[in-house]
Amino acid sequence: MKRIYIKGRKKLEGEVLVSGSKNSALAILAATILLPGKSVIRNVPNLLDVKTIIRVLRALGIRAEYSGSQPNTVEVWNSNVKHVAPYELVTKMRASFFVIGPILARTGLAKVPLPGGCAIGSRPVNLHIKGLEALGARVEMEHGFVNVWGKNLKGNRVYLDFPSVGATESVMMAATLAEGETIIENAAREPEIIDLAEFLKAAGANISGAGTEEIRIQGMAELFPVEYRVIPDRIEAGTFMIAAAITRGNLLIKDIIPDHIEALVRKLKEMKVDVEVNGNEVRVSGKDGIKAADVKTMPYPGFPTDMQPQLTALLSVAKGTSVITETVFENRFMHVNELNRMGADIKLEGQSTIVNGVPGLSSAPVKVSDLRAGAALVLAGLAAQGETMIEDRDHHLERGYENLKQKLTRIGAEIRVV
Ligand code: UD1
Repeated sequence: MKRIYIKGRKKLEGEVLVSGSKNSALAILAATILLPGKSVIRNVPNLLDVKTIIRVLRALGIRAEYSGSQPNTVEVWNSNVKHVAPYELVTKMRASFFVIGPILARTGLAKVPLPGGCAIGSRPVNLHIKGLEALGARVEMEHGFVNVWGKNLKGNRVYLDFPSVGATESVMMAATLAEGETIIENAAREPEIIDLAEFLKAAGANISGAGTEEIRIQGMAELFPVEYRVIPDRIEAGTFMIAAAITRGNLLIKDIIPDHIEALVRKLKEMKVDVEVNGNEVRVSGKDGIKAADVKTMPYPGFPTDMQPQLTALLSVAKGTSVITETVFENRFMHVNELNRMGADIKLEGQSTIVNGVPGLSSAPVKVSDLRAGAALVLAGLAAQGETMIEDRDHHLERGYENLKQKLTRIGAEIRVV
């Protein structure tokens, strides 16, 4: 159990350096399964989720570890790959299921546990499976595991009913070693998909169209080890942007890619928050009179579902009423009751919340249900009167925010972790 105590109402000021993208790093580390030899991945955030994927790689017989001499660098030595992913790791973190595509492509078979549900919804894997079947794999579910066979995967057209990030990644990885051309239609367009494609291309894959809804992959006989640098984490950047706005502070957030935060920048400007993007930096300063705004989460380039809880925290203290609609996940409102405990006025109506802005929040003991809900509570705690106690029983915040306490302390937050 972990408890975070935040004394709120301190203006956050100074500079924050954004870490590498968690979601990119997870996909790229999974993709190293495809590359025999030694690969070096840089700008990998030091997070619980990354440690989990490293443990998955090790369970598959791959040597993987953070470099002893270079910070945020993971070295992977890959020779023989086993085909069974362990139950306790895949059920702990859904992204470990994404190894199914690369294991299959590399070994001709894979046995991976079903990841199960999580706090934000049931999160099925049918699209991953449909995609692998289209490449000629045979799939059976048995005793909670997905068993897949496919010695000679063949390229094909794969239409995804929803532009799922994970399914796009699974199919893209498997297709790099399939025979012939694979076309993924209605593919996810998230920046992490482009980053994975760039990594695979550096390793010798032939991929075009990543970042659009149609990705073409020409299969190759083999891929080669590489050195690669992961893109910055747009969700961490966005969380600090909201930290500046909600504390009426002034932060310079460094190492961002402007396109990746565009939807949030537009929304904050609509809310009359001062945002200035300059090269790979963004300055955000908060002031009184932040306005309410409606928002709907969508696949990229729409407003990211991974920023919805944090934006809700900000809208809870904006002037006026906002409607927030979640279209990506079915149950991503676990932060609502906790924010209400802190004095917010938020009503849940189906897949939307109606947020009536209040003049201020007050501290309360609150519980973290999932990673981004936890981020929303930290932001609310930073803005609230008094000391907020955030109980993070399952260490969710460490899954997604590198050195959160240190980064926040450096810009003026009063925060202690017990
Ligand atoms: C990834 C991100 C996560 C982000 C999400 C949406 C990683 C490690 N995680 O998760 O942070 O919130 O994208 O941007 O990259 N779905 C199906 N069948 C499937 C797969 C997905 O119905 O086989 C549904 C899901 O239940 C969900 C929606 O599709 O409702 C989107 O999920 P998806 O894009 O797959 O999210 P993840 O890849 O799991």
